[in-house]
Amino acid sequence: MKSGSPLTRRAEIIGWGMCVPKQVVTNEDLAQTLDTSDDWIRSRTGIAQRRIAGDHESSAQMAIEAARSALQVADANPREIDLIIVGTTTPDHTFPSTACQVQGALGAVRAGAFDLSAACSGFVYALATAHQAIASGEHDLVLVIGVDCLSRRLNWQDRSTCVLFGDGAGAVLLRAGEGPAGVLATVLGADGSGGDVLIIPAGGCAAPLTPEVLEQNLHTIHMNGQEVYRFATRVLPTATEQVTKKAGLALDEVDVIVPHQANLRIVEMASRRLKVPMERFVINIEEYGNTSAGSIPIALCEAIEQGRIAPGSNVVMVGFGAGLTWGAVAIKWSVPPEEAISPRYRNWWRWLLYRWASMRGGWLRTTRNATVWLIRRTTQRDRYPRNLD
Ligand code: ACO
Repeated sequence: MKSGSPLTRRAEIIGWGMCVPKQVVTNEDLAQTLDTSDDWIRSRTGIAQRRIAGDHESSAQMAIEAARSALQVADANPREIDLIIVGTTTPDHTFPSTACQVQGALGAVRAGAFDLSAACSGFVYALATAHQAIASGEHDLVLVIGVDCLSRRLNWQDRSTCVLFGDGAGAVLLRAGEGPAGVLATVLGADGSGGDVLIIPAGGCAAPLTPEVLEQNLHTIHMNGQEVYRFATRVLPTATEQVTKKAGLALDEVDVIVPHQANLRIVEMASRRLKVPMERFVINIEEYGNTSAGSIPIALCEAIEQGRIAPGSNVVMVGFGAGLTWGAVAIKWSVPPEEAISPRYRNWWRWLLYRWASMRGGWLRTTRNATVWLIRRTTQRDRYPRNLD
Protein backbone atom coordinates (compact mmCIF):
# COMPACT_ATOMS: atom_id res chain seq x y z
CA MET A 1 0.00 0.00 0.00
CA LYS A 2 1.34 3.41 -1.02
CA SER A 3 1.20 6.68 0.93
CA GLY A 4 -2.12 8.49 1.61
CA SER A 5 -5.42 7.14 2.80
CA PRO A 6 -7.31 5.47 -0.06
CA LEU A 7 -10.38 7.52 0.85
CA THR A 8 -8.63 10.79 0.08
CA ARG A 9 -6.79 9.72 -3.06
CA ARG A 10 -7.83 10.88 -6.50
CA ALA A 11 -6.34 10.16 -9.93
CA GLU A 12 -5.16 13.44 -11.50
CA ILE A 13 -4.27 13.76 -15.17
CA ILE A 14 -0.75 15.22 -15.29
CA GLY A 15 0.25 14.39 -18.87
CA TRP A 16 -1.46 13.88 -22.22
CA GLY A 17 -0.48 13.09 -25.79
CA MET A 18 -1.86 11.87 -29.10
CA CYS A 19 -0.68 10.29 -32.32
CA VAL A 20 -2.47 9.92 -35.66
CA PRO A 21 -1.14 8.39 -38.88
CA LYS A 22 0.38 10.69 -41.50
CA GLN A 23 -1.88 9.65 -44.37
CA VAL A 24 -5.03 11.81 -44.80
CA VAL A 25 -7.93 10.26 -46.71
CA THR A 26 -10.67 12.73 -47.64
CA ASN A 27 -14.29 12.02 -48.53
CA GLU A 28 -13.42 12.92 -52.13
CA ASP A 29 -10.65 10.29 -52.08
CA LEU A 30 -13.19 7.64 -51.02
CA ALA A 31 -15.67 8.80 -53.66
CA GLN A 32 -13.07 7.87 -56.32
CA THR A 33 -13.54 4.17 -55.59
CA LEU A 34 -16.91 3.98 -53.79
CA ASP A 35 -20.49 4.93 -54.65
CA THR A 36 -20.53 7.78 -52.12
CA SER A 37 -20.01 11.55 -51.97
CA ASP A 38 -18.52 14.21 -49.75
CA ASP A 39 -22.01 15.66 -49.35
CA TRP A 40 -23.53 12.34 -48.14
CA ILE A 41 -20.76 11.65 -45.64
CA ARG A 42 -20.61 15.21 -44.27
CA SER A 43 -24.36 15.65 -43.96
CA ARG A 44 -24.94 12.23 -42.29
CA THR A 45 -21.87 12.13 -40.04
CA GLY A 46 -19.94 15.43 -39.94
CA ILE A 47 -16.79 13.67 -41.22
CA ALA A 48 -14.63 15.37 -43.89
CA GLN A 49 -11.46 13.28 -43.66
CA ARG A 50 -9.73 10.64 -41.57
CA ARG A 51 -6.15 9.41 -40.94
CA ILE A 52 -5.35 5.90 -42.18
CA ALA A 53 -2.34 3.90 -40.97
CA GLY A 54 0.38 3.17 -43.50
CA ASP A 55 2.62 0.10 -43.70
CA HIS A 56 4.86 1.13 -40.80
CA GLU A 57 2.08 2.39 -38.55
CA SER A 58 0.05 0.25 -36.14
CA SER A 59 -1.83 0.36 -32.84
CA ALA A 60 1.34 -0.28 -30.82
CA GLN A 61 3.38 2.30 -32.73
CA MET A 62 0.70 4.99 -32.26
CA ALA A 63 0.20 4.04 -28.60
CA ILE A 64 3.95 4.35 -27.94
CA GLU A 65 4.13 7.80 -29.61
CA ALA A 66 1.10 9.07 -27.68
CA ALA A 67 2.50 7.68 -24.41
CA ARG A 68 5.88 9.35 -24.95
CA SER A 69 4.14 12.70 -25.55
CA ALA A 70 2.15 12.26 -22.32
CA LEU A 71 5.35 11.52 -20.38
CA GLN A 72 6.98 14.59 -21.90
CA VAL A 73 4.10 16.85 -20.88
CA ALA A 74 4.20 15.46 -17.33
CA ASP A 75 8.01 15.45 -17.32
CA ALA A 76 7.70 11.94 -15.85
CA ASN A 77 10.16 9.08 -15.48
CA PRO A 78 8.90 5.96 -17.32
CA ARG A 79 10.61 3.79 -14.69
CA GLU A 80 8.19 5.11 -12.06
CA ILE A 81 5.04 3.98 -13.89
CA ASP A 82 3.17 1.34 -11.86
CA LEU A 83 0.56 0.23 -14.39
CA ILE A 84 -0.16 0.57 -18.12
CA ILE A 85 -3.71 0.00 -19.40
CA VAL A 86 -4.43 0.12 -23.13
CA GLY A 87 -8.04 0.27 -24.33
CA THR A 88 -8.03 -1.30 -27.78
CA THR A 89 -9.85 -3.84 -29.94
CA THR A 90 -7.24 -3.76 -32.68
CA PRO A 91 -4.05 -4.90 -30.96
CA ASP A 92 -1.04 -5.62 -33.18
CA HIS A 93 -1.23 -9.24 -31.97
CA THR A 94 -3.68 -11.34 -29.94
CA PHE A 95 -0.69 -11.64 -27.64
CA PRO A 96 1.58 -10.07 -26.56
CA SER A 97 -0.75 -7.25 -25.56
CA THR A 98 -0.29 -3.74 -26.90
CA ALA A 99 0.25 -2.65 -23.29
CA CYS A 100 3.28 -4.97 -23.03
CA GLN A 101 4.67 -3.53 -26.28
CA VAL A 102 4.29 -0.04 -24.80
CA GLN A 103 5.88 -1.16 -21.53
CA GLY A 104 8.90 -2.54 -23.38
CA ALA A 105 9.32 0.53 -25.60
CA LEU A 106 9.12 2.97 -22.70
CA GLY A 107 11.43 0.98 -20.43
CA ALA A 108 8.69 1.05 -17.78
CA VAL A 109 10.45 -1.72 -15.86
CA ARG A 110 8.25 -1.54 -12.74
CA ALA A 111 4.91 -1.51 -14.55
CA GLY A 112 2.25 -4.18 -14.91
CA ALA A 113 0.55 -3.97 -18.30
CA PHE A 114 -2.67 -5.19 -19.87
CA ASP A 115 -5.11 -4.47 -22.70
CA LEU A 116 -8.77 -3.83 -22.07
CA SER A 117 -11.43 -4.58 -24.69
CA ALA A 118 -14.48 -2.32 -24.71
CA ALA A 119 -14.42 -1.08 -28.33
CA CYS A 120 -15.06 2.67 -28.60
CA SER A 121 -15.64 2.86 -24.82
CA GLY A 122 -12.14 1.41 -24.26
CA PHE A 123 -10.49 4.64 -23.14
CA VAL A 124 -13.26 5.53 -20.65
CA TYR A 125 -13.24 1.97 -19.27
CA ALA A 126 -9.43 2.11 -18.94
CA LEU A 127 -9.57 5.52 -17.25
CA ALA A 128 -12.18 4.30 -14.76
CA THR A 129 -10.05 1.21 -14.02
CA ALA A 130 -6.93 3.33 -13.54
CA HIS A 131 -8.86 5.59 -11.17
CA GLN A 132 -9.83 2.56 -9.07
CA ALA A 133 -6.21 1.35 -9.04
CA ILE A 134 -5.07 4.72 -7.71
CA ALA A 135 -7.99 5.42 -5.34
CA SER A 136 -7.53 2.00 -3.72
CA GLY A 137 -3.97 2.96 -2.78
CA GLU A 138 -2.48 0.16 -4.87
CA HIS A 139 -0.78 2.34 -7.50
CA ASP A 140 0.58 5.89 -7.75
CA LEU A 141 1.38 6.46 -11.43
CA VAL A 142 -0.77 4.89 -14.14
CA LEU A 143 -0.58 5.31 -17.91
CA VAL A 144 -3.86 5.01 -19.80
CA ILE A 145 -4.01 4.77 -23.59
CA GLY A 146 -6.91 4.53 -26.02
CA VAL A 147 -5.90 3.34 -29.48
CA ASP A 148 -7.44 1.70 -32.51
CA CYS A 149 -6.44 0.94 -36.05
CA LEU A 150 -9.84 -0.07 -37.39
CA SER A 151 -8.79 0.62 -40.98
CA ARG A 152 -7.31 -2.90 -40.86
CA ARG A 153 -10.74 -4.34 -39.97
CA LEU A 154 -12.84 -2.50 -42.56
CA ASN A 155 -14.37 -3.77 -45.75
CA TRP A 156 -13.31 -0.98 -48.12
CA GLN A 157 -16.13 -1.96 -50.49
CA ASP A 158 -18.80 -1.42 -47.82
CA ARG A 159 -19.73 2.27 -48.03
CA SER A 160 -21.99 2.06 -44.97
CA THR A 161 -19.02 1.39 -42.62
CA CYS A 162 -15.68 2.25 -44.23
CA VAL A 163 -16.42 5.98 -44.53
CA LEU A 164 -16.96 6.29 -40.77
CA PHE A 165 -13.66 5.23 -39.23
CA GLY A 166 -10.09 6.47 -38.90
CA ASP A 167 -7.00 5.43 -36.92
CA GLY A 168 -5.40 7.14 -33.93
CA ALA A 169 -4.24 7.03 -30.31
CA GLY A 170 -4.39 9.22 -27.23
CA ALA A 171 -2.78 8.79 -23.82
CA VAL A 172 -3.00 10.30 -20.36
CA LEU A 173 -0.71 9.87 -17.37
CA LEU A 174 -2.48 9.74 -14.00
CA ARG A 175 -0.88 10.44 -10.64
CA ALA A 176 -2.30 9.98 -7.16
CA GLY A 177 -3.25 13.31 -5.59
CA GLU A 178 -4.99 14.26 -2.40
CA GLY A 179 -6.50 17.61 -3.35
CA PRO A 180 -9.96 18.38 -4.71
CA ALA A 181 -8.86 17.83 -8.35
CA GLY A 182 -8.82 14.57 -10.29
CA VAL A 183 -11.40 11.94 -11.15
CA LEU A 184 -14.64 12.80 -9.32
CA ALA A 185 -16.89 9.98 -10.53
CA THR A 186 -17.18 7.18 -13.08
CA VAL A 187 -20.09 5.32 -14.66
CA LEU A 188 -19.72 2.12 -16.70
CA GLY A 189 -22.42 0.14 -18.48
CA ALA A 190 -22.89 -2.80 -20.83
CA ASP A 191 -25.67 -4.59 -22.69
CA GLY A 192 -24.40 -7.84 -24.18
CA SER A 193 -27.76 -8.50 -25.84
CA GLY A 194 -26.74 -5.90 -28.42
CA GLY A 195 -23.52 -7.67 -29.38
CA ASP A 196 -24.75 -8.39 -32.91
CA VAL A 197 -25.48 -4.74 -33.65
CA LEU A 198 -21.82 -3.90 -34.07
CA ILE A 199 -19.60 -6.92 -34.57
CA ILE A 200 -16.53 -8.34 -36.27
CA PRO A 201 -17.98 -11.84 -36.74
CA ALA A 202 -14.78 -13.80 -37.47
CA GLY A 203 -11.12 -13.88 -36.57
CA GLY A 204 -11.66 -14.97 -32.96
CA CYS A 205 -11.70 -18.56 -31.74
CA ALA A 206 -15.43 -19.00 -32.53
CA ALA A 207 -14.79 -18.47 -36.23
CA PRO A 208 -11.09 -18.68 -37.08
CA LEU A 209 -9.79 -17.18 -40.30
CA THR A 210 -10.36 -19.40 -43.32
CA PRO A 211 -10.38 -18.60 -47.04
CA GLU A 212 -14.23 -18.61 -46.92
CA VAL A 213 -14.28 -16.18 -43.98
CA LEU A 214 -11.94 -13.83 -45.82
CA GLU A 215 -13.93 -14.09 -49.03
CA GLN A 216 -17.15 -13.17 -47.20
CA ASN A 217 -15.41 -10.32 -45.33
CA LEU A 218 -16.50 -11.74 -41.98
CA HIS A 219 -13.24 -10.50 -40.44
CA THR A 220 -14.41 -6.89 -40.96
CA ILE A 221 -16.88 -4.61 -39.16
CA HIS A 222 -20.58 -5.38 -39.58
CA MET A 223 -22.90 -2.72 -38.23
CA ASN A 224 -26.59 -2.00 -37.97
CA GLY A 225 -26.12 1.78 -38.20
CA GLN A 226 -29.64 2.75 -37.23
CA GLU A 227 -29.64 0.54 -34.12
CA VAL A 228 -26.25 1.93 -33.06
CA TYR A 229 -27.60 5.44 -33.64
CA ARG A 230 -30.65 4.76 -31.44
CA PHE A 231 -28.47 3.21 -28.70
CA ALA A 232 -25.93 6.05 -28.80
CA THR A 233 -28.48 8.87 -28.64
CA ARG A 234 -29.96 7.17 -25.56
CA VAL A 235 -26.79 6.36 -23.58
CA LEU A 236 -24.74 9.49 -24.34
CA PRO A 237 -27.07 11.90 -22.50
CA THR A 238 -27.99 9.35 -19.81
CA ALA A 239 -24.38 8.49 -18.89
CA THR A 240 -23.47 12.20 -18.90
CA GLU A 241 -26.31 13.00 -16.50
CA GLN A 242 -25.49 10.04 -14.25
CA VAL A 243 -21.78 10.82 -13.90
CA THR A 244 -22.43 14.52 -13.36
CA LYS A 245 -24.89 13.75 -10.56
CA LYS A 246 -22.53 11.19 -9.01
CA ALA A 247 -19.77 13.83 -9.03
CA GLY A 248 -22.05 16.19 -7.08
CA LEU A 249 -22.27 18.65 -9.97
CA ALA A 250 -25.15 20.24 -11.84
CA LEU A 251 -25.05 20.01 -15.64
CA ASP A 252 -24.45 23.75 -15.97
CA GLU A 253 -21.33 23.37 -13.80
CA VAL A 254 -19.75 21.10 -16.43
CA ASP A 255 -17.42 23.30 -18.49
CA VAL A 256 -16.48 20.84 -21.23
CA ILE A 257 -17.97 17.55 -22.45
CA VAL A 258 -15.64 15.33 -24.50
CA PRO A 259 -17.90 12.79 -26.25
CA HIS A 260 -16.90 9.82 -28.36
CA GLN A 261 -16.63 11.11 -31.94
CA ALA A 262 -18.83 8.65 -33.85
CA ASN A 263 -21.27 10.97 -35.56
CA LEU A 264 -21.88 14.73 -35.20
CA ARG A 265 -25.64 14.13 -35.29
CA ILE A 266 -25.43 11.87 -32.23
CA VAL A 267 -23.71 14.67 -30.27
CA GLU A 268 -26.24 17.27 -31.52
CA MET A 269 -29.07 15.05 -30.33
CA ALA A 270 -27.36 14.64 -26.92
CA SER A 271 -26.90 18.40 -26.73
CA ARG A 272 -30.62 18.93 -27.29
CA ARG A 273 -31.64 16.24 -24.80
CA LEU A 274 -29.30 17.56 -22.10
CA LYS A 275 -30.10 21.20 -22.92
CA VAL A 276 -26.35 21.83 -22.96
CA PRO A 277 -25.19 24.10 -25.83
CA MET A 278 -22.99 22.54 -28.54
CA GLU A 279 -20.21 25.03 -27.70
CA ARG A 280 -19.52 23.04 -24.52
CA PHE A 281 -18.91 19.82 -26.48
CA VAL A 282 -15.49 19.12 -28.00
CA ILE A 283 -15.92 18.09 -31.64
CA ASN A 284 -13.13 17.07 -34.01
CA ILE A 285 -14.88 14.33 -36.00
CA GLU A 286 -14.57 16.44 -39.18
CA GLU A 287 -10.80 15.89 -39.13
CA TYR A 288 -10.36 12.33 -37.83
CA GLY A 289 -13.65 10.41 -38.24
CA ASN A 290 -14.38 7.76 -35.61
CA THR A 291 -11.03 6.61 -34.15
CA SER A 292 -12.80 4.26 -31.71
CA ALA A 293 -10.87 4.03 -28.40
CA GLY A 294 -8.58 6.83 -29.60
CA SER A 295 -11.34 9.37 -30.13
CA ILE A 296 -11.89 10.73 -26.60
CA PRO A 297 -8.21 11.18 -25.62
CA ILE A 298 -7.44 12.76 -29.02
CA ALA A 299 -10.33 15.22 -28.56
CA LEU A 300 -9.17 15.86 -24.98
CA CYS A 301 -5.62 16.70 -26.17
CA GLU A 302 -6.97 19.12 -28.77
CA ALA A 303 -9.27 20.80 -26.24
CA ILE A 304 -6.31 21.34 -23.90
CA GLU A 305 -4.20 22.74 -26.76
CA GLN A 306 -7.01 25.13 -27.66
CA GLY A 307 -7.10 26.40 -24.07
CA ARG A 308 -10.64 25.13 -23.50
CA ILE A 309 -9.59 23.27 -20.33
CA ALA A 310 -7.92 25.10 -17.44
CA PRO A 311 -7.33 24.44 -13.72
CA GLY A 312 -10.69 24.14 -11.98
CA SER A 313 -12.56 23.11 -15.17
CA ASN A 314 -15.11 20.35 -14.72
CA VAL A 315 -14.73 17.93 -17.64
CA VAL A 316 -16.95 14.98 -18.55
CA MET A 317 -15.67 12.32 -20.97
CA VAL A 318 -18.38 10.03 -22.30
CA GLY A 319 -18.16 7.11 -24.70
CA PHE A 320 -20.19 4.27 -26.21
CA GLY A 321 -19.40 1.40 -28.50
CA ALA A 322 -19.58 -2.24 -29.45
CA GLY A 323 -20.45 -4.76 -26.77
CA LEU A 324 -22.65 -2.84 -26.33
CA THR A 325 -20.74 -0.71 -23.85
CA TRP A 326 -20.84 2.82 -22.53
CA GLY A 327 -19.12 4.84 -19.84
CA ALA A 328 -18.42 8.31 -18.51
CA VAL A 329 -15.80 9.91 -16.28
CA ALA A 330 -16.10 13.29 -14.55
CA ILE A 331 -12.86 15.11 -13.75
CA LYS A 332 -11.88 18.34 -12.07
CA TRP A 333 -8.85 19.57 -14.00
CA SER A 334 -5.71 20.69 -12.16
CA VAL A 335 -2.72 21.17 -14.46
CA PRO A 336 -2.13 24.53 -16.20
CA PRO A 337 -1.09 23.70 -19.80
CA GLU A 338 1.61 26.38 -19.91
CA GLU A 339 3.46 24.84 -16.94
CA ALA A 340 3.35 21.33 -18.31
CA ILE A 341 6.43 21.49 -20.53
CA SER A 342 9.57 19.45 -19.81
CA PRO A 343 12.97 21.19 -19.87
CA ARG A 344 14.95 20.19 -22.98
CA TYR A 345 17.62 18.21 -21.10
CA ARG A 346 14.89 16.05 -19.53
CA ASN A 347 13.56 15.25 -23.00
CA TRP A 348 17.07 14.11 -23.97
CA TRP A 349 17.28 12.03 -20.85
CA ARG A 350 13.94 10.34 -21.67
CA TRP A 351 15.13 9.77 -25.27
CA LEU A 352 18.20 8.02 -23.87
CA LEU A 353 15.96 5.88 -21.64
CA TYR A 354 13.92 4.82 -24.69
CA ARG A 355 17.12 3.93 -26.56
CA TRP A 356 18.28 1.97 -23.51
CA ALA A 357 14.87 0.21 -23.35
CA SER A 358 15.18 -0.81 -26.99
CA MET A 359 18.76 -2.09 -26.51
CA ARG A 360 17.78 -3.86 -23.30
CA GLY A 361 14.88 -5.59 -25.11
CA GLY A 362 17.24 -6.71 -27.90
CA TRP A 363 19.83 -7.93 -25.38
CA LEU A 364 17.27 -9.91 -23.35
CA ARG A 365 15.91 -11.54 -26.53
CA THR A 366 19.42 -12.48 -27.66
CA THR A 367 20.45 -13.95 -24.30
CA ARG A 368 17.18 -15.88 -24.09
CA ASN A 369 17.75 -17.39 -27.55
CA ALA A 370 21.42 -18.12 -26.75
CA THR A 371 20.44 -19.83 -23.47
CA VAL A 372 17.92 -22.07 -25.26
CA TRP A 373 20.51 -22.91 -27.95
CA LEU A 374 23.12 -23.77 -25.30
CA ILE A 375 20.71 -25.96 -23.32
CA ARG A 376 19.78 -27.84 -26.52
CA ARG A 377 23.45 -28.29 -27.47
CA THR A 378 24.51 -29.52 -24.03
CA THR A 379 21.56 -31.87 -23.46
CA GLN A 380 21.26 -32.91 -27.14
CA ARG A 381 17.47 -32.77 -26.67
CA ASP A 382 14.59 -31.06 -28.40
CA ARG A 383 12.70 -28.52 -26.42
CA TYR A 384 9.95 -31.05 -25.65
CA PRO A 385 10.47 -34.74 -24.73
CA ARG A 386 10.15 -37.07 -27.74
CA ASN A 387 7.38 -39.62 -27.86
CA LEU A 388 8.87 -42.51 -25.88
CA ASP A 389 7.08 -45.11 -27.98
N1 ACO B 1 -22.65 7.02 -49.23
C1 ACO B 1 -23.81 7.09 -49.89
N2 ACO B 1 -24.89 6.40 -49.53
C2 ACO B 1 -24.76 5.59 -48.44
C3 ACO B 1 -23.56 5.47 -47.73
C4 ACO B 1 -22.48 6.21 -48.16
N3 ACO B 1 -21.28 6.17 -47.52
N4 ACO B 1 -23.77 4.60 -46.71
C5 ACO B 1 -25.04 4.19 -46.79
N5 ACO B 1 -25.65 4.78 -47.85
C6 ACO B 1 -27.02 4.64 -48.31
C7 ACO B 1 -27.63 3.32 -47.89
O1 ACO B 1 -27.28 2.30 -48.79
C8 ACO B 1 -29.09 3.66 -47.93
O2 ACO B 1 -29.51 3.58 -49.26
P1 ACO B 1 -30.97 2.96 -49.64
O3 ACO B 1 -31.95 3.85 -48.95
O4 ACO B 1 -30.99 3.04 -51.12
O5 ACO B 1 -30.96 1.57 -49.08
C9 ACO B 1 -29.15 5.12 -47.52
O6 ACO B 1 -27.81 5.63 -47.69
C10 ACO B 1 -29.58 5.34 -46.10
O7 ACO B 1 -28.84 4.42 -45.28
P2 ACO B 1 -29.03 4.42 -43.72
O8 ACO B 1 -28.19 3.35 -43.11
O9 ACO B 1 -30.50 4.44 -43.40
O10 ACO B 1 -28.40 5.86 -43.35
P3 ACO B 1 -28.50 6.61 -41.99
O11 ACO B 1 -29.20 7.89 -42.18
O12 ACO B 1 -28.95 5.72 -40.88
O13 ACO B 1 -26.96 6.93 -41.72
C11 ACO B 1 -25.10 6.15 -40.46
C12 ACO B 1 -26.03 5.86 -41.62
C13 ACO B 1 -24.35 7.43 -40.72
C14 ACO B 1 -24.10 5.00 -40.35
C15 ACO B 1 -25.91 6.27 -39.15
O14 ACO B 1 -26.83 5.22 -39.03
C16 ACO B 1 -25.05 6.32 -37.94
O15 ACO B 1 -24.26 7.23 -37.73
N6 ACO B 1 -25.17 5.34 -37.03
C17 ACO B 1 -24.29 5.26 -35.88
C18 ACO B 1 -23.01 4.58 -36.31
C19 ACO B 1 -21.92 4.65 -35.27
O16 ACO B 1 -21.88 5.55 -34.48
N7 ACO B 1 -21.03 3.67 -35.33
C20 ACO B 1 -19.89 3.64 -34.51
C21 ACO B 1 -20.20 3.10 -33.18
S1 ACO B 1 -18.86 3.16 -32.10
C22 ACO B 1 -17.94 1.69 -32.13
O17 ACO B 1 -17.92 1.00 -31.17
C23 ACO B 1 -17.22 1.23 -33.36
